Amino acid sequence: MKEKTGAFSFAARVLHWLMAAMILAMLFIGVAMVASVSALHEWLLHIHKPLGIAILILAIVRFAIRLRRPPPPLPEDLPMIQQLAAHASHWVLYGLMIAMPLIGWAMLSAGGFPVMLSESLRLPPIVPVNPIAFAVLRQLHTYLAFLLFITFLAHMAAALYHGLIRRDGVLASMVSGKRAPTFSYPAIGTSEADRHRSKQKQAVRIGK
Ligand code: HEM
Repeated sequence: MKEKTGAFSFAARVLHWLMAAMILAMLFIGVAMVASVSALHEWLLHIHKPLGIAILILAIVRFAIRLRRPPPPLPEDLPMIQQLAAHASHWVLYGLMIAMPLIGWAMLSAGGFPVMLSESLRLPPIVPVNPIAFAVLRQLHTYLAFLLFITFLAHMAAALYHGLIRRDGVLASMVSGKRAPTFSYPAIGTSEADRHRSKQKQAVRIGK
């Protein structure tokens, strides 16, 4: 059943920050891995595979939590284009958090390589061996890694914009779990007239 509390749960916040660190690490490990040829390549690959599968499992858990408890609404005065961009980028991030590990797993399966998570734990192949599919999935893994990195950067820039410029409680709602207000406080540098309009709007909302 959906709970409508208008705040992020503790589990959602822990998963958000844990997965942000894991995904960033995965992007750098991936690039370092393909750029190295020595024993370092093997060592990084041994981290890359289990960490990627852990991201897949956590992304599914996180998606289930999100369906059960929707995130707090964005401030009502956020321009429509920014609201759309925020929602679109969140869905792209969810899609890539699930697609990237699946593509990595499918790519190794198509290449006929074993997907070992540890010395003894081997995942079953999810697609039949096929060199063409391997080549296509290998390319896709690279292109989607770029898309993930760009979306990640845009997401971070938007978070800083909310936290430092708009100061509308959106970033704080993911940091401390406080419910974000549906209106925003005037940002630093706004004119006296804007500040007055914002106060009036706020007063109307709380019924003064
Ligand atoms: C969120 C999850 C993942 C991310 C962000 C990620 C990211 C990356 C990146 C950035 C690269 C380098 C791409 C390039 O420069 O061509 C890469 C390569 C690779 N990834 Fe992933 N990956 C993920 C999951 C997985 C999983 C689950 C597997 C396998 C089970 C996997 C297997 C590989 C392999 C085999 C390579 C190529 C290694 C090589 O050619 O030396 N990845 N990955």
